[in-house]
Amino acid sequence: MTNRQLRLNAFMRPASIHTGAWRYPGAWPDMNFNFAHIKECIRKLEAAIFDGFFMADHMAVLNMPMDALKRSHTSTSFEPFTLLAALSQATEHIGLLATGSTTFDAPYHIARRFASLDHISGGRAGWNIVTTSNPDAALNFGLEEHMEHDERYRRAREFYKVVTGLWDSWADDAFIRDVESGTFFEPDKMHVLDHKGEFLSVRGPLNIARPIQGWPVIVQAGASEAGRQLAAETAEMVFTALPNMKAGKAFTADIKNRMRKIGRNPDHMMIMPACFVLLGDTKEEAQRKRSLLDSKVDYANAIASLSIALGHDASRFDPDKPLPDDIPESNASQSGRQRAIELARRENLTVRQLAQRLGGFGGLAMVGTVGSVADEMEEWLTTSASDGFTIQFPYLPGALDEFCTQLVPELQRRGLYRRAYEGKTLREHLGLPRPENRFFKNGDRRAANAAE
Ligand SMILES: Cc1cc2nc3c(=O)[nH]c(=O)nc-3n(C[C@H](O)[C@H](O)[C@H](O)COP(=O)(O)O)c2cc1C
Repeated sequence: MTNRQLRLNAFMRPASIHTGAWRYPGAWPDMNFNFAHIKECIRKLEAAIFDGFFMADHMAVLNMPMDALKRSHTSTSFEPFTLLAALSQATEHIGLLATGSTTFDAPYHIARRFASLDHISGGRAGWNIVTTSNPDAALNFGLEEHMEHDERYRRAREFYKVVTGLWDSWADDAFIRDVESGTFFEPDKMHVLDHKGEFLSVRGPLNIARPIQGWPVIVQAGASEAGRQLAAETAEMVFTALPNMKAGKAFTADIKNRMRKIGRNPDHMMIMPACFVLLGDTKEEAQRKRSLLDSKVDYANAIASLSIALGHDASRFDPDKPLPDDIPESNASQSGRQRAIELARRENLTVRQLAQRLGGFGGLAMVGTVGSVADEMEEWLTTSASDGFTIQFPYLPGALDEFCTQLVPELQRRGLYRRAYEGKTLREHLGLPRPENRFFKNGDRRAANAAE
């Protein structure tokens, strides 16, 4: 029963994904960078029993021309760990998920931060493994060029292995703190990783006890061939943007098949695509609210968003003609480029129309009444198109309030969503097992050859 209930995350960086959000009537214009507002929102999300609160991270301001950037409410955001550590003290149950870049960060740093967050929050941390597609991030980290897509994913795989190896540095019962003998930990229960690979060299051990969850929950959002394969091998939750239910079914089946092929249990994966939800008293009212929101997007932002999706300067295209056929692949997001091209072809859009769609929000959107959105979510769940959703709120606080006070009770009434947290940790909320320590089984060192 439990595993056929909807899982919900809140996508909170940017606090609203829609470029026009901060200008919507009644919205908090400073939502993205106001701690008091964020704290109020996470408490409401916890009262609505959300599984997780997710902070994305982009490590650079958006790579847009100034005329577009100056209109963006996402030009500043909190650093995720500082924020989540603070929020962990304002909440008790909700999961705290953050992006950690495998391209611009060091595995020892990532392992420490997530392990600390897991301890501080009582086992509520989750790591979204991201290779970072914004090429401008490279310029903030001493590099002139962004690493190639495939190379980024090869590094990500090795990075994951090192981080999880570091989390396994200590047996769960290593710290005996024997005051009589003066022994703080048992030396046999500490493992030195000594990793040397293609990209990384890390000795270890981690100077933090094994996380409460064993490992924080592992998340992935990539959709390319390389991204899917990495998700199937490593992830326990996937956020990947999926345009519709048909794509959801195909994606879910694909990831779960890939897991079976490598001997992983497909139940140990929560597919929770990003989903924008806008509610109205009638479908027409919901559409009117969306149109009002979309009207707050300047064309400069629209065309800049299209350029980011394509990995190419779209301002050079004729705005009133269809998208040119020969847009080359770029080193940024492959799946983002593909989704934009497919949307333009499918709906026969001009460059201007496509830009306007992506400039507001171009992904999966459920816009309707409480009943119609609950129907859609139910169909995704019952046809195994997903296990739940990572909700993107159109504007704040209004859309979050409507979701929590109107849609959640309806989902509960239909038996699709729980009425209380059943466990304490994020893994327990999601029904995910605690991973065994790779180097120690029930506290004892495993045979040396099982170590790597
Ligand atoms: C819900 C969601 C959250 C994401 N969060 C981040 C993020 O925080 N930082 C980032 O650089 N990319 C983020 N991405 C982008 C993905 O990690 C990935 O780069 C993108 O989907 C392209 O995948 P591909 O490289 O496999 O084509 C996110 C994507 C989705 C759908």
